[in-house]
This record gives sequence, C-alpha cells and structure tokens, in this order.
Amino acid sequence: MDKNNKRIALVTGATGGLGTAMCKKLFDEGYTVAGNYRNKAKADEWKAKLKAEGYDALLFEGDVSDFDSTGKMVEQIEKEAGTIDILVNNAGITKDSRLINMKKEDWYAVINTNLNSVFNCTKHVIQGMIDRNFGRIINISSVNGQRGQFGQTNYSAAKAGMHGFTKSLSMEVAKYGITVNTISPGYIATDMVMAVPEKVLNQIVAQVPMGRLGGTHEVAHLVCFLASDETSFITGANYSINGGQHVY
Ligand code: CAA
Repeated sequence: MDKNNKRIALVTGATGGLGTAMCKKLFDEGYTVAGNYRNKAKADEWKAKLKAEGYDALLFEGDVSDFDSTGKMVEQIEKEAGTIDILVNNAGITKDSRLINMKKEDWYAVINTNLNSVFNCTKHVIQGMIDRNFGRIINISSVNGQRGQFGQTNYSAAKAGMHGFTKSLSMEVAKYGITVNTISPGYIATDMVMAVPEKVLNQIVAQVPMGRLGGTHEVAHLVCFLASDETSFITGANYSINGGQHVY
C-alpha cells in the first residue's frame, strides 16, 4: 500500500470512455488512481473536467505499446504515488477493415497497443506485486475476442490473445496473492463504438437480447469488483458483460 494506506490502481488508456468510468469508480471506492494517457492536450482537458467534478486522479504519460516508455512511466508512478497494487490493462484502439484491405501498419498498431501493451505493463509491475504478496491484474478484452467480428481480424486476435495471457499468468502468480482476470465487454456506449457506421451498429444492437448498448459504469463496477481484496479466490477467469449478445 502507499503512504496513505490506500491501494493504488493504474488504469491504462484512462482518458477514453471506459477508462474514465473506471477511474471515477475506483476513486469513489477509495483507491488512489493513476491514469495513463498518450495525448497531452486531451489529458489536460480530462484532468480539469474530472477535478471540477471532485475527482483528483493522477495522470501519467506513457506509450504502453512501447516497452521502455511503459517502464519509465511505472517508475514515475512509483516515485510520485507509490507501488502499483492494481493494474487495469484497458488501453486499446481499433483499425477495422476486412483482411483483404488491411494495411500491415493497421495490423501491427492494433496488436502492439491492445496486446503487447499487456505484456509491457504487467512485466513492469509484477515483481512489486510478488514482493508485497498482493496484486490484481484486470485485462479488458472484448466480446469480439470471444466470437470474432467481421472487419476485426487484428482486434479480435489481440483481444483473444489477452485471455491466453490471463490464464497462463494466473497459474504462475496464484501463490503470491495475485489474481489475473479478463473482462470481455460487448458493445458499450463509447466513442470507439459510436464510430462504427450507424447502419452496422443498428444491426449489432439488434443482436443484443437487452436491446441496448452497455453503459461504461456497468463495466467500471465489474472492474471494482475484481480489484477488491475480497475477490481473492477468483483468478484466470473471463467475465462476459455483453447484455446477452454472446452466451456460451
Ligand atoms: N457479415 C457478412 N458480410 C458482411 C458483413 C458481416 N457482418 N458486413 C459486411 N459484409 C459484406 C457486405 O455485405 C459486402 O458484401 P458485398 O461486397 O457482397 O456487397 C462486403 O462485406 C463489404 O462490405 P463493406 O462495403 O461494408 O466493407 P468495408 O470493407 O467498407 O467495411 C468494415 C467493412 C469496416 C469492417 C465495416 O463493416 C465496419 O465498420 N464494421 C463494424 C466492425 C465492428 O463491429 N467494429 C467494432 C468496433 S467497437 C469495438 O471493437 C469495441 C468492442 O470491443 C465491441
């Protein structure tokens, strides 16, 4: 724990729709929240907006698709806030197109940001968690990693890869009080989902038995559940949160 005896949570991709909701909910639950960002202008605006709402989240710059940049960011967080107890690997992008049209750059960008980032961040915090005999690693995957999605070979591959990582690491660190779990959201009302062409999105929502997009607060609630001390026997699991769109 940090100097104030509060657990510290690092949320990557903090300034996006899901990241923002997670930071707020973790803050409400009493965690010290360290948010990661890449875009300084967006981050400054985000920080001011949250501060006006009463949220005092710390923000740290870092490119989680880059191993060394992530290492520097973790070092800075540990110096300024304390050691990281909870890591939420949330940063992610889409570069949708059919494989036939997909540029090599769009494949690598999505794999680096959505999957290699999970290795980069976890690798830099895991030893500290082992030393303190406590840790929570929460990987934000997607329904499209579970079932595939037309136009998302890159994204679906990265998101499915996250769960393989979760399952393997959960076995390696279970004896150190560290849990590793995946959350697989369906279509949530974020800018990323709203960028899907309206006609396609309407078709997708029609496949959701609840008949609506999910709310970011619904995913944030699940993050807080898995971050808590009480969920110490849940590890290697994949939590679907998709309104019934994909059940198995
Ligand atoms: N299944 C089968 N065929 C499909 C299809 C589908 N779902 N969607 C399109 N097609 C067919 C079309 O009918 C068309 O066929 P014809 O050539 O015979 O007419 C062909 O594929 C080409 O369709 P488009 O012209 O639409 O193809 P495109 O290459 O211009 O666009 C696309 C493809 C960019 C993938 C577009 O369909 C799209 O944006 N789809 C949405 C992808 C999506 O759901 N992304 C999720 C983003 S949010 C997110 O990822 C968060 C999360 O975790 C859930």
